[in-house]
Amino acid sequence: MSIAAVFNQKGGVGKTTTTLNIAAALSARERHPLVIDLDPQASLTLAMGLRNVPREASLYAFFKDGRPLADLVRRHPSGVDLIPGSFDLSKIEALHGNDMTISRRLAEGLQALSMARPVLLDCSPALGVLSLNALLAAERVLMPVAADYLSLEGANKLTAALDVLETRLGKRFERRVVITRFDARRRLTAEIHRTLQQRFGERLCRTVIKENVALAESPMHGKDIFAFSSSSQGAQDYRALTEELESAGFFGAVVADRTPT
Ligand SMILES: Nc1ncnc2c1ncn2[C@@H]1O[C@H](COP(=O)(O)OP(=O)(O)OP(=O)(O)O)[C@@H](O)[C@H]1O
Ligand SMILES: [Mg+2]
Repeated sequence: MSIAAVFNQKGGVGKTTTTLNIAAALSARERHPLVIDLDPQASLTLAMGLRNVPREASLYAFFKDGRPLADLVRRHPSGVDLIPGSFDLSKIEALHGNDMTISRRLAEGLQALSMARPVLLDCSPALGVLSLNALLAAERVLMPVAADYLSLEGANKLTAALDVLETRLGKRFERRVVITRFDARRRLTAEIHRTLQQRFGERLCRTVIKENVALAESPMHGKDIFAFSSSSQGAQDYRALTEELESAGFFGAVVADRTPT
């Protein structure tokens, strides 16, 4: 199983958009991904067309009542499996904010699932107990960084936070950075691109995700970009990004998976 956390503690940089559309592109490549919505805002769940998921049917039930992850999986028409989030997840943050004992819960739950397919974890913009669960479960971290000045600063903080975590947790993350909301008309964009290239070298994805209105509109319709507008710039970019990451082995080896969930 290959588990990637899509993480950046800066808000609104494209974590959910990236999770949603990479998963859909992986599904089109018959990789049968599983996505997990770890954000109490439940944006990924909404973007996949699910509203008002009862907490018993969401990731909350896994953390609160010990429901197995397999019971919570729902298949989306795109072929992507989703474990939905719900607002109640904020209670897990509130209850267990300083309780490190639950921080390995997701890693254990995913181990019990034992699937040979990619898992993507959509994190909230906070380094709380839910994101910590994601980072302890994942061996890879995909960091979307929006092409603006504050996001560039945020990328430095994120790198420092991951360095500290690696030391504390005694593990190494395979890291990739992807630039999102790229607008070639802005002079600042080229500068930010250069700076990130210098800072991250080959860990910076060659594919950039351009600012694209279809990417902003598709979640409103509960659709990924391929179902919403398969010829849009956003669809082209996420297809190319997925191919790039896939050929770098970021989603693990391609193994025939015959399990239905
Ligand atoms: N390339 C893009 N072009 C246009 N709009 C985009 C693009 N990427 C993301 N957006 C829009 O920007 C907003 C923030 O994106 P998204 O929700 O993916 O960020 P996030 O990092 O998951 O946010 P949060 O930190 O709140 O979880 C959304 O409204 C989304 O539709
Ligand atoms: Mg999000």
